[in-house]
Amino acid sequence: MKDGFGREINYLRLSLTDRCNFRCRYCMPPDGVIMLRHEDMLTLEELFAVVKLMAERMGFNKVRVTGGEPLIRKGAIEFMQWLGTIDAVDDLSLTTNAFHLEPHARVLHEAGFRRVNISLDTLRRDLFEEITRVDGLPQVLRGIRAAKEVGFDPIKLNAVAIRENLDEAVDLVDFGVQNGIQVRFIELMPVLGGSNGEFVSVDRVRQAIETRYKLLPIGEGGDPRGKNPSSAAEVFRIEGTEATCGFIPSITRPFCRACNRVRLRGDGHLKPCLASSQSFDLMPHIRPVFASDALEAFIRERIVSHKRQSRGAYEIDSMSMYGG
Ligand code: 5AD
Ligand code: SF4
Repeated sequence: MKDGFGREINYLRLSLTDRCNFRCRYCMPPDGVIMLRHEDMLTLEELFAVVKLMAERMGFNKVRVTGGEPLIRKGAIEFMQWLGTIDAVDDLSLTTNAFHLEPHARVLHEAGFRRVNISLDTLRRDLFEEITRVDGLPQVLRGIRAAKEVGFDPIKLNAVAIRENLDEAVDLVDFGVQNGIQVRFIELMPVLGGSNGEFVSVDRVRQAIETRYKLLPIGEGGDPRGKNPSSAAEVFRIEGTEATCGFIPSITRPFCRACNRVRLRGDGHLKPCLASSQSFDLMPHIRPVFASDALEAFIRERIVSHKRQSRGAYEIDSMSMYGG
């Protein structure tokens, strides 16, 4: 379906939970931010019914499961298997910190998940612990390896660009080159509760990488967005290798024109634009009775009428509620 700016919206990002087993500094305070109460959360059955409706009646054929950390929600794996049964969805993907990925990678791949984005800011165990407040790097690396072994393709690594990992940019890209994984650097977005590290633009990261590698824009005529104009990332081929790397300039070059996504929070709030404080509660159309027609009409109306996307002024309550 089209939104009020004429953009074709077909991509649903589904945050299963706002909780996470990590406490990344730029995302939450040390004690975590549990904002959503259990009783306010949609059950997985309810979430599934909403996704199915949006897929079958409204053309959402692309679904990404995210969090917080989606794999820590009880029943997440079964839920993801249900998603695999919706014929109208032809692109199922997952964003995870990979800590719990290893034991589930195969069943998720068999369920129809093909693409996985993994958050990884550093390959240094001590810095990893400093950033996430969990000594989890070895286990995350096993999760990445498992994703590779069972055939996830593409696997992308998301690294938030901060002062502390700037000198590791080349190492992260090397890791990507060696493992056939696209590393993407994301600009730090200010969120409430995250004690934000020091902002580093992705252009600065790119300069650091270019001291070692020549980067070639993947698209015609030097366009780094290539064939996927709605991608948030600017993607470059790394000369002399098969690999690519990407940059997401969410702050310095926010890319709203071709945005194709909406977000659904685990408590049933629909958020048409991450950069806006607007969100819409679907719950009245879900409980006490699941009113399909009213729900469809409400979602369509909100997607069409939501306010103009902000121009770089983010008002995100917490990244862990929307999963980026
Ligand atoms: N700014 C930018 N990216 C963030 N993420 C979490 N918090 C922030 C932030 N403040 C990223 C995670 C993950 C993705 C879902 O969002 O690293 O890769
Ligand atoms: Fe968890 Fe991701 Fe937030 Fe880190 S950035 S605390 S892994 S939700």
